[in-house]
Amino acid sequence: MTTDELEKLLAQQPVGFLHRLASGRIHRHFRLGKRRLIDALLRHSADNRAGMESDLQTLTKERPRYEQSVGHRQHPEPAAHQAKRPGHGERHPAKAGHEGSAEPAEPAPDLTAFLEGIGVPPPQPFVPDAWQEEALAHLAETDVIVSVPTGSGKTYVAIEATRRAIEAECTVIYTSPLKALSNTKFTEFSRIFGADRVGILTGDRKDNPQAPLLIMTTEILRNLLYDAAGGEIDVRLDTLGLVIMDESQYIADPERGVVWEETIIFCPTQARLLLLSASIGNPQDVADWLTSIRPTPCYLVRHHRRSVPLRAGYLHPSGKLTPLFRSVGIPHGSAAALHPEAKRLFAHYEDETLRPRSH
Ligand SMILES: Nc1ncnc2c1ncn2[C@@H]1O[C@H](COP(=O)(O)OP(=O)(O)OP(=O)(O)O)[C@@H](O)[C@H]1O
Ligand SMILES: [Mg+2]
Repeated sequence: MTTDELEKLLAQQPVGFLHRLASGRIHRHFRLGKRRLIDALLRHSADNRAGMESDLQTLTKERPRYEQSVGHRQHPEPAAHQAKRPGHGERHPAKAGHEGSAEPAEPAPDLTAFLEGIGVPPPQPFVPDAWQEEALAHLAETDVIVSVPTGSGKTYVAIEATRRAIEAECTVIYTSPLKALSNTKFTEFSRIFGADRVGILTGDRKDNPQAPLLIMTTEILRNLLYDAAGGEIDVRLDTLGLVIMDESQYIADPERGVVWEETIIFCPTQARLLLLSASIGNPQDVADWLTSIRPTPCYLVRHHRRSVPLRAGYLHPSGKLTPLFRSVGIPHGSAAALHPEAKRLFAHYEDETLRPRSH
């Protein structure tokens, strides 16, 4: 077979078959698109044209049976095939005839159940959750740490607390660990409170620094508090009534955590601290520490209920999606709970990507 003929034949095959052909021959072929895969196969076949042609013929013969068994998916062979295959580069056509009977077929994953409920829910009147009310009530008296799952509504607590502080003619500082998040909150809070009442201070921006609500990165606040200690400051801290530290799990960051600690230590005593996080591992320890260094005790609001249940899926690079577990919810601690289709795809991915170079 000439190179042109081989190229033409390769181009006629579905990409999944080309991946099967590339298995054991070409490292990381799984990431290649069809054109680059054909080029790689042609390059490889320069050394062993006969082996390539023989494998190609075998695969072409079994193609109708394969397509019947897996439908018309455009992704490479199931991992069960890979697992049963001999070592690198050691392809043997005779094996192919046994592939289909290697394992009993698993039922196809039920993606409808897996994806059910995703979307925009119908509008409903807003009713604060009990924990949100609890956090706001305590904030009137003490510092508060809110440690609740992601998507629970911590921003509502921040906004309501800010509204109450501004009404009491206090300054509010909201900090986040990222400039991007600070910019987003600046836009969001400007819409809620009015542009004239919101300022921003990050390494890149300084707008409206005399506003009653100032958004900044935690590093900027720490530096402000340092400067205030030295008497140089262009932000009024004497009226500071509330400091909100969003994403406060950064206190545990090995490099940046010290910034959160220093900010808390230097925070003016008349201001309330509101720490928000979905992922502080030991919030009671942090609350106890705040209680020990601040004039008022720190109250912890904590729960683990998810307003938006998690669902775990496995998205294979071929674009195929499958539930990660047999159940829609997320089980803990049992490998047997993994969905067989996810296991199969993941084994396949590992086989394709972790295989050492065979030449
Ligand atoms: N009591 C409530 N009832 C219904 N929806 C709410 C309630 N409180 C907040 N929400 C909505 O929940 C969504 C998520 O809220 P929010 O962004 O404040 O979550 P979060 O706790 O800050 O999450 P993250 O940890 O990801 O920052 C928002 O769309 C918000 O409007
Ligand atoms: Mg949030």
